[in-house]
Amino acid sequence: MTQRVGVIGWPIEHSLSPAMHNAAFKALGLDWQYDKIAIPPDIVKLSLNELRDAGFVGINVTVPHKQAVMPYVRPDEIAKAVGAVNTIDFRGNKATNTDVAGFMGDLAAHGVDPAGMKVVVLGAGGAARAAVYGLAKAGAYIVVVNRTPERARDLIDSLGVEAIADGIAAVSDAELIVNCTSVGLAPKVDESPLPDDIRLKPDVIAYDMIYRPAQTRFMTQVEAAGGRAIGGLGMLVRQGAVAFSLWTGVEPPLDVMFSAAQAQLQAD
Ligand code: ATR
Repeated sequence: MTQRVGVIGWPIEHSLSPAMHNAAFKALGLDWQYDKIAIPPDIVKLSLNELRDAGFVGINVTVPHKQAVMPYVRPDEIAKAVGAVNTIDFRGNKATNTDVAGFMGDLAAHGVDPAGMKVVVLGAGGAARAAVYGLAKAGAYIVVVNRTPERARDLIDSLGVEAIADGIAAVSDAELIVNCTSVGLAPKVDESPLPDDIRLKPDVIAYDMIYRPAQTRFMTQVEAAGGRAIGGLGMLVRQGAVAFSLWTGVEPPLDVMFSAAQAQLQAD
């Protein structure tokens, strides 16, 4: 019998996850199927029960349900700390957040070890929480910069990590800048979380969690200043790969997943 998994979100039309997971199942000859499932916010709880009863092994959870599902599952330490779930395993109703491993894994894959680095995290939403949690565990010196400064302070306090909240000028001292805001996301590709006249360290590294477009204005700004920029597709693929191995117990074929995500992105 075909094993079923999928992703719930609202909207869900542009998710790259079905392409990525189904390509991996096919490459390994696994009789599994991954579907995108549009679930409006008012029926999230109902949908979890329905999918569980229908025999789904697990699901990914995306915007806007990542916090809403928390009361109905058993979140692990990471999901509790981040305050958001992106992967559920209905066998035991366990839930986790694989964005942390996805982000940290992609940094490592690009040869970036944040231990001891001065890192500025831009943003204070769920994506920023995942980044700050992972970076703090890895031993980075973290400054959180957000349009609404109180949210940056709240993020630090609630995570209980050693980090400071500061203004945008802090990026001038950063060795690594991580964009966890939605600024620059398609279709508003002309926007950047950095002002035009900002000074950057010449050897700065930038990580943009945005992968649509592949090259954001933020990345171009950093490269123009002599720095190195990494886009967010690798993080997306790696968070998916962690979920894949949780559900199947099989080593995920990263190259297959990456190619499928990239092809789907280009086809959209
Ligand atoms: P996610 O869970 O994906 O991180 P979110 O919780 O909506 O999404 O957070 C979006 C982040 O992008 C926030 O840090 C937000 O800043 P505020 O906390 O001030 O809202 C930031 N953001 C969104 N649009 C922005 C803009 N035009 N300029 C600056 N920051 C912006």
